Amino acid sequence: MENRNTFIAPSLLASNFLELGKEVDMLNHSEADWLHLDVMDGRFVPNISFGLPVISHIRKATTKFCDVHLMIEEPEKYAEDFKKAGADMLTVHYETCNHLHRNIQQIKDLGMKAGVALNPHTPVHLLENIINDVDLVLIMSVNPGFGGQHFIQKSLEKIRQTREMINHYKAHALIEVDGGITVENAGSILDAGANVLVAGSTVFSSKDPAATIRALKHA
Ligand code: DX5
Ligand code: ZN
Repeated sequence: MENRNTFIAPSLLASNFLELGKEVDMLNHSEADWLHLDVMDGRFVPNISFGLPVISHIRKATTKFCDVHLMIEEPEKYAEDFKKAGADMLTVHYETCNHLHRNIQQIKDLGMKAGVALNPHTPVHLLENIINDVDLVLIMSVNPGFGGQHFIQKSLEKIRQTREMINHYKAHALIEVDGGITVENAGSILDAGANVLVAGSTVFSSKDPAATIRALKHA
């Protein structure tokens, strides 16, 4: 299935933060398309990761597309700061946005691509009235907050529903899937209609991360 145009977005959450420069350099020389950067606030999700200063440094160390996944309450307060830090794409959670349309416009007005993420329990059809405005739909295939969890099988159906919705409304959004992705299940996730695969522990726990990225890219 080499002809699929799959984007691979390794999640730095699973990298060795003491060697962040080396990790980014390895990704720079790999077939990774995007760097997936997970920001957690300890409120929306029960964990805290890293934030603006770390992303600014990563930005200086890579020319790859920086895909920032905001797992934070009130993302509108920080959108401009993430733009300044170097985000190319800002993805907010549906569950944190009372005014999602406004949040998406804000991100686009700042000059970034705009994504919306859905928790495992949030139905896809809730995006019907915004699907033409977003650049990406992120289907969470684990409950957000931690790396290394198991892929929730129901996500495959949600990916198919999102693909149908995008086709129906002639929308341009990419479908990104995040959580529990392995070399073994990547093919079925792509078959369901995904374009972008996020992978944290699968990449960084492997003996040869660059080879694992290549395997995901050609799954
Ligand atoms: C989880 C994060 C993920 C995480 C994925 O809340 O959004 O991006 O890093 O980790 P793995 O690939 O290990 O499930
Ligand atoms: Zn993520």
